[in-house]
Amino acid sequence: MGREPDSNNSSTNSANSSLSHELFEKISRFIYNQSGITLKDGKEALVASRLAKRLRALNIPSYASYFQYLEKDTSGEEIVQLLDAISTNVTHFFREPKHFDILHEKITTWKNAGQRRFRIWCAASSTGEEPYTLAMVMAEVCGLSGIDWKILATDISTRVLDIAKTGKYEEEKLKDVSSALKQKYFDQIKLEEQKYYRAKPALRERIVFKRLNLAEPPFPMHGPLDFVFCRNVMIYFDNNIRKPLIDEISRLLKPEGILIVGSSESLTGIITAMKSIGPSVYANIRK
Ligand SMILES: C[S@@+](CC[C@H](N)C(=O)[O-])C[C@H]1O[C@@H](n2cnc3c(N)ncnc32)[C@H](O)[C@@H]1O
Repeated sequence: MGREPDSNNSSTNSANSSLSHELFEKISRFIYNQSGITLKDGKEALVASRLAKRLRALNIPSYASYFQYLEKDTSGEEIVQLLDAISTNVTHFFREPKHFDILHEKITTWKNAGQRRFRIWCAASSTGEEPYTLAMVMAEVCGLSGIDWKILATDISTRVLDIAKTGKYEEEKLKDVSSALKQKYFDQIKLEEQKYYRAKPALRERIVFKRLNLAEPPFPMHGPLDFVFCRNVMIYFDNNIRKPLIDEISRLLKPEGILIVGSSESLTGIITAMKSIGPSVYANIRK
């Protein structure tokens, strides 16, 4: 999104303007309406400092002008930048590893029972470590030929999706990936004396990356899905966003299909067709 430089931007300095409570509430409401993310009370100072970075990057002199700019942005790019500034994209390979054991176990059972098509949705895929982990587990169980398996990886942020699509990570990021898996599924590359690993094409082509806002169901996918990983994103939502999201996940999952949420998240207090079968693991009981 382009922006004309400010005529008097020489004095641009976020310290010159302060974020009033009223403006904080307006920005919070805007963020909630666009993404379902709730900014908790008491976060004003944190939000102000994160927004100050956007003001500096855009050469905008005050929070009020920034809000006008945000509201007028029809491209949707600034909301992505803003969400990136206020939320975290933290993720890593094999995060909460027990969840991948459950995937391994269930897919093996279904495969042994004759299933030959698997669909997995990674609902807040961030920079890609989670869907590539899912892909490695799927490849270990089902191989890379024969069985038809695919992963849909979505996120609201086009910035993280662009990183994920490259499948390229600094060596340090793969510290939780065994050397056997690294060797099997990644190519080593060297760029400007820095070592990287890039997911092999056979793994990359199993994952489709798309932008999707979890706060705006219904989603344009067809089920039935076998697994949904929706981890470490629901913490940002209130129950008005969570409930329709879980109902939509239940609609897309096959009966007995599995939803996994983050270890610190739960569906307590929300009535849905998902039955708890273990910590942060739910089975779809919709017929
Ligand atoms: C903390 S990361 C979690 C990444 C990964 N699922 C994991 O557990 O490691 C949260 C991700 O949720 C995404 N996110 C936040 N709000 C979203 C929304 N309304 N729709 C889709 N993704 C959203 C963020 O862009 C971010 O990449």
